[in-house]
Amino acid sequence: MTSDKNSLRPYKDWIFNASRAHRSRVIVAIDLFDGPPEKIFNASNRLLAKTIYNLCGVKLGRQTVLSLGRQRTQHLIRLAHSNDIPCLIDDKLNDIGETNEAIAKTYFQLGFDGVTANPFVGESGLRPLFRTAHRDRKGIILLTFMSHPSAFEGYGQRVLPKGRTIPEFQYRLFARQALKWGADGVVVGATYPRIIREAKSILSGKVPIYSPGVGTQGGSLEEAREAGTDYFIIGRSITLATKPDVASANFARVSFGKDQVRSVR
Ligand code: C5P
Repeated sequence: MTSDKNSLRPYKDWIFNASRAHRSRVIVAIDLFDGPPEKIFNASNRLLAKTIYNLCGVKLGRQTVLSLGRQRTQHLIRLAHSNDIPCLIDDKLNDIGETNEAIAKTYFQLGFDGVTANPFVGESGLRPLFRTAHRDRKGIILLTFMSHPSAFEGYGQRVLPKGRTIPEFQYRLFARQALKWGADGVVVGATYPRIIREAKSILSGKVPIYSPGVGTQGGSLEEAREAGTDYFIIGRSITLATKPDVASANFARVSFGKDQVRSVR
């Protein structure tokens, strides 16, 4: 499959199809950055070669892209594409609209298929980003509730939305906005299954939930799956495993549970 053919499909459909084809809801998070670029590249390459059949997506951290540089990054993206799976950049864009759009365009020109963004910047901070991304069939994944212990301080605060008299949890507003703005996914940490459940009911099956935080951060894949997670973002529990092929295969198997086809399109 060439990247030309890949680029004809919207990101959201592509990852859905990849997930069914590989029988996996696992996106591997490659966050390597220590050491010379060639070493990071070789390690990433080896990791993908061992795990790619157990994945529906690849996510590169910004630190990895900065360490690898343009050409090596493109090589990894092409490796994912040649196995018909999309590649995300996790930059959590958090700037004014024009800057978010410019950063995303640069990532898309490199070959990335989707980018994460922070809805704290509000509609005008995201509108140009959505416009650019969707014109090119790329994906925008919005943070809704992070996976780390202090996520409550921001995403979990109660706020008074404009024109309303009753306070509302920030993450609930973000989930509603993701639905309204046509996001291709939202991030809710696997460490907070109760919030996954709430987000699932707000999103009414229209926006998939991406959950990082499985394993190393303490989240349980099974609990998140039962709460409604559609895709699992898993880093160190695969990348640092003695046998990443076995670890990724196990996560892939459990990621579907009994239901082999449930996933939001
Ligand atoms: O190694 P681990 O499985 O904890 O990696 C999780 C990945 O997901 C990391 O790249 C981390 O930056 C990212 N992430 C997260 N929590 C969020 C959003 C992204 O852990 N809310």
